[in-house]
Amino acid sequence: MKVAVLGAAGGIGQALSLLLKLDLPAGTDLALYDLAPVTPGVAVDLSHIPTAVKVTGYGKEDLSKALVGADIVMIPAGMPRKPGMDRSDLFNINAGVVKTLAEAIVENCPKALVGIITNPVNTTVAIAADVFKKAGTYDPRRLFGVTTLDVIRAETFVAELKGKSPVDVAVPVIGGHSGTTILPLLSQVADVSFSDEEVKSLTHRIQNAGTEVVEAKAGGGSATLSMGQAAARFCLSLVKGLQGKTVTEYAYVEGNGEYARFFAQPIVLGKNGVEHLLPIGELSAFEQKAMTDMLGTLKADITLGEEFVKNN
Ligand SMILES: NC(=O)c1ccc[n+]([C@@H]2O[C@H](COP(=O)([O-])OP(=O)(O)OC[C@H]3O[C@@H](n4cnc5c(N)ncnc54)[C@H](O)[C@@H]3O)[C@@H](O)[C@H]2O)c1
Repeated sequence: MKVAVLGAAGGIGQALSLLLKLDLPAGTDLALYDLAPVTPGVAVDLSHIPTAVKVTGYGKEDLSKALVGADIVMIPAGMPRKPGMDRSDLFNINAGVVKTLAEAIVENCPKALVGIITNPVNTTVAIAADVFKKAGTYDPRRLFGVTTLDVIRAETFVAELKGKSPVDVAVPVIGGHSGTTILPLLSQVADVSFSDEEVKSLTHRIQNAGTEVVEAKAGGGSATLSMGQAAARFCLSLVKGLQGKTVTEYAYVEGNGEYARFFAQPIVLGKNGVEHLLPIGELSAFEQKAMTDMLGTLKADITLGEEFVKNN
């Protein structure tokens, strides 16, 4: 198996690559690509960790080499937020980054499973999808916006509030990956009940958890370590699926279009990426209203990506 990380020298990329070096199955090739000149050094550094995962670093000119033969491509390349920015402020820079990398995937590994981390995920996934579509290689089962961080944050915050161990808490998070489009379904958390006030404040905290990190880092970027862990968890689930195991995750995918063209929802992963979409279940009145209120924003974010590919 070969896994490529594009943007591997960045904050997320390095954390993700470290976790993959530790946890990918023995014999896997881990290809690290980034524009930053430090990339070969990151690969050498990781290669000294004694696991049976072979790490190779690729610099600016070697994108094709990094991608050729890849089964999975994880993309954290691009600019992160600074205080005062929301994820849509990253569009102007990151749209072009994702388009370029998606075009290289078309050329080198069109059948790979692709996990997009680069923000704004609501829009960058639509960009990658339409680049693949234009090239005739698009398979919606193989493209994912990585929203795992929203899920792990929700689990951590619920566990904190209710005095539980985070490993015993599961919280569905659906919709998109930005502000109000992030919709935790607290009504579906097993064995826990929340007051109306708790639902409101916890929902708000989960939706704005990224900003908590951006402000605490005071100009030094956004979530990298928790995101590295979230991306590694998602990538390892993709690996398990490719190995023929059945795994359930939440991700932002093109499903049946019931709510929006792309929507974060529970999916069963297997040998072809998404094997089945699972239903989102029953929503409380609060969640139903939140869903109705945010769908316009989510759809506009998607349209922005579609228009970008049309016009560039
Ligand atoms: N999906 C999520 O939940 C989530 C969470 C946090 C951050 N993010 C996003 O992830 C992205 C990366 O964040 P970070 O903190 O690692 O940023 P960073 O600045 O630390 O790293 C980004 C890396 O991307 C590289 N890069 C830029 N353009 C590239 C290109 N064309 N090809 C290859 N590499 C390229 C840079 O050289 C840099 O090393 C940002 O867009 C951020 O908003 C997503």
